[in-house]
Amino acid sequence: MSSTSDNPLTRFSAFIWALGVFSLFGVIVLALKLFSHDTTGKNPLEEAAAAKRYEVRAGVDAAQKAGFAYKEVEKGKTVQVPPHDVFASLGEKLLSEKPAPVAVDAQIVPGSDRATAKSTEAGPDMSAVDKRTPAADTPIDPAVMAKGQATFALCAACHGPAGAGVPPVGPPLAGSEWVTGPVSNLIRIQFRGLQGPLHVKGAVFTPLAPMTPVIATQDDETIAAVLTFVRNSFGNKAAPVLPEQVKMLRSELGKPMLTEADLIKP
Ligand code: HEC
Repeated sequence: MSSTSDNPLTRFSAFIWALGVFSLFGVIVLALKLFSHDTTGKNPLEEAAAAKRYEVRAGVDAAQKAGFAYKEVEKGKTVQVPPHDVFASLGEKLLSEKPAPVAVDAQIVPGSDRATAKSTEAGPDMSAVDKRTPAADTPIDPAVMAKGQATFALCAACHGPAGAGVPPVGPPLAGSEWVTGPVSNLIRIQFRGLQGPLHVKGAVFTPLAPMTPVIATQDDETIAAVLTFVRNSFGNKAAPVLPEQVKMLRSELGKPMLTEADLIKP
């Protein structure tokens, strides 16, 4: 008589259980796969992305097609117009368009017709600006000096950290009659730049390159502060430059570079 332990189903029950659990797992995975996916085999998210791509592509194709020009070289034979012809027609199109007017002085291109026209405009009254200069013994605000010193870092490259000049890159500011002279000169130089030979401290300074208006786009306070700083540093002593004086000469911006002859003799 066989005992229960001889029944193969009992002897291999662990194996049979494992087989059962494994198969059940397989059935669950299969069921999940079947029901989570759309039977067409298409993923709706991918489909939506693809539709967008096709739409963009069609737009690009249409835009390119519209940009190409074709011409009939002989009957029934149409060729694409060579690229240089396309560029030529684009150039003509651009030329025929009216350019946008220059809205602000800072946009005026040096040497342009607009710059030349501006140089012949009746300029601001320099004597009105210079008349506003405070008395020579006016105390200088230390905050203005500190602000001016910070901006002077830009000037130091050409004029030297102590304003002694870096020939032939920049003339001296220390002891320069221009620096302590009429304020309108200094402000105009900041707005228009300065070129050509210049008499400084009894010698003719011929610059390697003109002085470009480096701080012309900064605010009135900043320009006034750096000018006040150079007028009261390196042994110089002169009245401060007021932001309102800088403001009075804003319209100088965009005019051609100055030469010594344009300045008031100090
Ligand atoms: C790229 C170099 C350069 C920079 C930067 C520069 N300058 Fe000049 N500056 C010159 C040159 C060059 C001249 C002389 C131009 C000429 O003789 O035509 C000059 C002339 C001057 C003059 C009149 C001449 C004199 O020596 O007194 C003043 C004032 C002056 N600069 C102030 C300044 C101030 C202030 C700054 C900074 C905001 C500045 N410069 C930045 C190159 C520079």
